[in-house]
Amino acid sequence: MTEKFTELVFATKNKNKLSEVKKMLENSGIEVQGIEGEFSPEESGDTFEQNAYIKAFEAAKITNLPALADDSGLVVQALNGRPGVYSSRYEKTDEKRNNKLLQELKDVSAEKRSAKFVCSMVIVSSEGEKLFSVTETCEGKIAFSPSGGHGFGYDPVFYLPEKNATMAELTMEEKNKISHRGKALRKTVEWLICGRNI
Ligand code: IMP
Repeated sequence: MTEKFTELVFATKNKNKLSEVKKMLENSGIEVQGIEGEFSPEESGDTFEQNAYIKAFEAAKITNLPALADDSGLVVQALNGRPGVYSSRYEKTDEKRNNKLLQELKDVSAEKRSAKFVCSMVIVSSEGEKLFSVTETCEGKIAFSPSGGHGFGYDPVFYLPEKNATMAELTMEEKNKISHRGKALRKTVEWLICGRNI
């Protein structure tokens, strides 16, 4: 049976992610707090879900509260799934990461440039029991050059054929509707509000 809880810690240092979750859980009876102080658990998992679990469990241990964490990245088919869970460690800056990716794919044709963003979200109890997990994707292709000024990370090189635009050319609202993180977050919030034992 799922424990009933009214407080949740979100294992992130990202203020935007925190305020987004707080906003979606307004009036839900669940108070969300961020993680204070030093927090840098080793993301040693082989999958996004494992890394999200590692972060959530670490936050639960520190705060003695149920914890939510996410982990995401870019999976490129022609690179056998790289950079994957190493997306943030692939190079030192967003610009370098995007240049390296374009360089690695320089001889790959348009048809073979399929890629997806993946996001896993996990909720653990204060004891570290996995209560909920979800993994969502957003499918696209790696462009031949960067374009667009919105978003972050790999957005300028992530091309969405059905929008005829890169992710960085979408507004934040447009991105949230289709993104891996937006989809995972909506399912997580749905579970928090309706799915758990209340
Ligand atoms: P994290 O899970 O927020 O730590 O994201 C890991 C890395 O994946 C980021 O540093 C980005 O390089 C990449 N990434 C994750 N989500 C996105 C996205 O929505 N757009 C672009 N890059 C992303």
